[in-house]
Amino acid sequence: MSNTEDRIKQLAQHTFGTWNRQSAWTSPLLIKDAEGVYFYDYKDKPYIDFSSMLICSSLGHKNKAIIEAIVKQAEKLPYVAPGFITEVAMDALEAIQSMMPEGLNKFFFSTSGTEANDGALVMTRQSQAPRYKVISRYHSFHGATSAGMAFTGDPRRILTERARYTVEGVCFAPDCYCYRCPFGQTYPECKIQCATYIDYMIKEDGNIAAIIVEPVVGTNGRIVPPPEYFPMIRKICDENDVLLIADEVMTGWFRTGKKFAMDHWNVVPDIMTTAKGCTSAYTPVGITATTDKVADFFENEMFCHGHTYAYHALSLSAIPPAIAEYKKLDASGVIREGSEHLKNELYKLADRHECVGDVRGIGHLWGFELVKNRKTKEAFNVKMDKLTGAPLMTGKVSAECFKNGLYVLAWYDNLVIAPPLIITKQEIDKAIHILDNALTIADNEVVSTGIAASRSSEFSS
Ligand SMILES: Cc1ncc(COP(=O)(O)O)c(C=O)c1O
Repeated sequence: MSNTEDRIKQLAQHTFGTWNRQSAWTSPLLIKDAEGVYFYDYKDKPYIDFSSMLICSSLGHKNKAIIEAIVKQAEKLPYVAPGFITEVAMDALEAIQSMMPEGLNKFFFSTSGTEANDGALVMTRQSQAPRYKVISRYHSFHGATSAGMAFTGDPRRILTERARYTVEGVCFAPDCYCYRCPFGQTYPECKIQCATYIDYMIKEDGNIAAIIVEPVVGTNGRIVPPPEYFPMIRKICDENDVLLIADEVMTGWFRTGKKFAMDHWNVVPDIMTTAKGCTSAYTPVGITATTDKVADFFENEMFCHGHTYAYHALSLSAIPPAIAEYKKLDASGVIREGSEHLKNELYKLADRHECVGDVRGIGHLWGFELVKNRKTKEAFNVKMDKLTGAPLMTGKVSAECFKNGLYVLAWYDNLVIAPPLIITKQEIDKAIHILDNALTIADNEVVSTGIAASRSSEFSS
């Protein structure tokens, strides 16, 4: 065994692999380099990054302007305690203010998406007291701290409820999931029952302080709501004096084509959380943004929250250059043209492969939900398979892609197609070609129905 392979095994043995059985964390792949939409393993094999790592490397790898800004800040002043301020914090604030929807005026900077949601919980519970309950949805992921995981509806919450469920008072609403409507209805005849039911929940449950939503469901399916959904939710929140928290950790920073996903529906939340794309993952940053209404509560009340690394100068240094890059990409039409091409190619690919039950998404955030039978929508895998370690069909397709130089994340029932916003048409075509071949693995286990793949989010893309 080479020295490198030995050291890889050592590392695996002495560290916890995230979201993994540790017996499966034996030989993680060593990544040596990355540039643009490619990354390279230690044997120099290239991979196209078709999921932007964890849907965060939106500007691709090794962006020079961002790296230069980080290096400059490291030399100048990497850290001061959050009770002081730095010039880079002022620069980051101005850059962020130039992007935020009108009304979101006050910010808290942490170092991750889940911490941004922790901040949102503190703002909610202090300002809305004595009301304390938060409505979330089953198809959701909001992070791994106690608050983030308590808000999370996906299978990972189920396994850790006892370990981490110290945040009480979270109730789960039915999803806005047209392909598998929880009410068995069809859009638009449904009259968006999934939204009106939330009004019913608020009134019947009592003590509801806020609702937290991913504007486009990320990990749990790239589910885009019909255009009426969020304006209705906004109205319901206003009528019931409930805060609307938009978790834009994944969907912010042009991932869905607009600055923030809520911009598609002209809805401004009371609290917005974001992370990932705000630095394109070059440094760890989480942002909790809020309106005057929430902020004013803390004028004479202690904001009972903070971290050693809050407002970390080195972390914040990546924000201004990242935002400058997004503005350039947007103005030049690169984002729009790339997403249009991606959408067209994904629709064609879904038509060619019977295993794709539903193709849905928006911007550079898409999913293929794989099924055995388009008519019955029988899934290859269900939620609990994620916990029991059962082999996943999405995992098999993703592994075949990886073997052929394409990185595509797999959730238990769908593939995560979310490339960096800088991806070119040629790079998309190359990736689609590899995915095309890999999908035949699932096609081989499908019942032929002659029915076309559903495009459940076409109404809003
Ligand atoms: C919507 C959403 N919220 C929160 C988080 C948690 O962010 P982090 O992993 O930075 O804590 C994620 C991570 O994927 C996410 O997708």
